[in-house]
Amino acid sequence: MPLTIDVLTLFPRMLDGFLAESILGKGIGAGHLKVTVRDLRDWATDKHRKMDDRPFGGGAGMVMLPEPVFAAMEQVQTPGCRRIYLTPDGMPLSPELAQELSQQQHLVLLSGHYEGIDQRIRDQIIDQEISIGDYVLTNGTVAAAVLIDALARFIPGVLGEEKSLTHESFTSKLLDFPQYTRPAEFRGMSVPEILLSGNHAEIEKWRHARQVEKTRQVRPDLLK
Ligand code: ADE
Repeated sequence: MPLTIDVLTLFPRMLDGFLAESILGKGIGAGHLKVTVRDLRDWATDKHRKMDDRPFGGGAGMVMLPEPVFAAMEQVQTPGCRRIYLTPDGMPLSPELAQELSQQQHLVLLSGHYEGIDQRIRDQIIDQEISIGDYVLTNGTVAAAVLIDALARFIPGVLGEEKSLTHESFTSKLLDFPQYTRPAEFRGMSVPEILLSGNHAEIEKWRHARQVEKTRQVRPDLLK
């Protein structure tokens, strides 16, 4: 059974192009994962399809109502599924977490409102809260897209070549080495000699040294 993902969002069309294109689109087309996007407004209970209201206790902004979200979750959840809320105050997304999620059978991703959602949703029908980084997006749908993309790469068959996973940033906790392709000389800039040498051991050494150098410059925290 391929991994099944349900996304609950107020902006379902934001995901249309994203899910149809590129490697992810191919992976879905090939049946390596199945993603269903659901419009939370379909579960709205009043005739204006209202989804939010002012916060008790006062303050700026609007808060997503519990009723439609509970109703949606109760309809799409399955026994043992992982129910995830995308929020900047969640646990940071990492490659390890993405890989762990890629091995589940069913994920339900709830993308929230700019201002927040009723705490009872988080307390009762959410298993895990995940942030994609220390910045605030206008809504969690983009974060859900990032999570789907990051975990899909760990599903066997989604990336054509298995090798492309092993050699990249973050599996080694080092940033990437520089890549070059034809032509060997372009507008007076030439490709480092070593890469044309055919000496694989020396090329590996050179690449590792570039990784350490780049990581020291850009992300010294990874070297600690
Ligand atoms: N929603 C808004 N900002 C977010 C973030 N950084 N991560 C996850 N969900 C979000």
